[in-house]
Amino acid sequence: MENLILIGFMGAGKTSVGKACASCFHMDFLDTDEYIVRKAGMEITEIFRTKGEEAFRAMETEAVRDLIKEKGGRVISVGGGLPLREENRELLKKLGQVFYLQVSPKTVEERLRGDQTRPLLQGEDPVKRIGELLAYREPLYRKAAHSIVNVNNRSVADIVEEIGALAGQKMEMAKEP
Ligand code: S3P
Repeated sequence: MENLILIGFMGAGKTSVGKACASCFHMDFLDTDEYIVRKAGMEITEIFRTKGEEAFRAMETEAVRDLIKEKGGRVISVGGGLPLREENRELLKKLGQVFYLQVSPKTVEERLRGDQTRPLLQGEDPVKRIGELLAYREPLYRKAAHSIVNVNNRSVADIVEEIGALAGQKMEMAKEP
């Protein structure tokens, strides 16, 4: 069975939507950040601090290459910066059906205010940084994806339902009457 891949900016809800998709569609869930942390034996912040962003990006490419060789049928949420490399965008499409969870800067700012786990948002002016990064990344996320799913002001259940319909998954979720 094909993998379902969730991409998008930090705070788009890739992990929570991914876990909900996995449980609704009876698939396994995997997060590339967690995969890298396990393989490297180091937290993301530590990898950025001691090895730098480029080394982390290389680990992301390696992770996708590893996952292509493994079994399918998973929901895979992908670190926000992984689709930036052209090579990774091509690899992601080989890995499965790619959904871009599209989020506004305002939603990201509300969700990630005070977060200390994202090294790229730790500077002086995180709001400005979110705007800049998102503007740069938006066209790349679009290029990487088979489908775009808007996640602003929507419940996880609603988003899962849309992904299920796009992916042709049978829903096992209790629906409201
Ligand atoms: C990053 C996103 C993070 C993590 C790292 C870099 C990015 O993952 O991979 O901090 O460049 O957008 P999430 O998107 O899961 O927060």
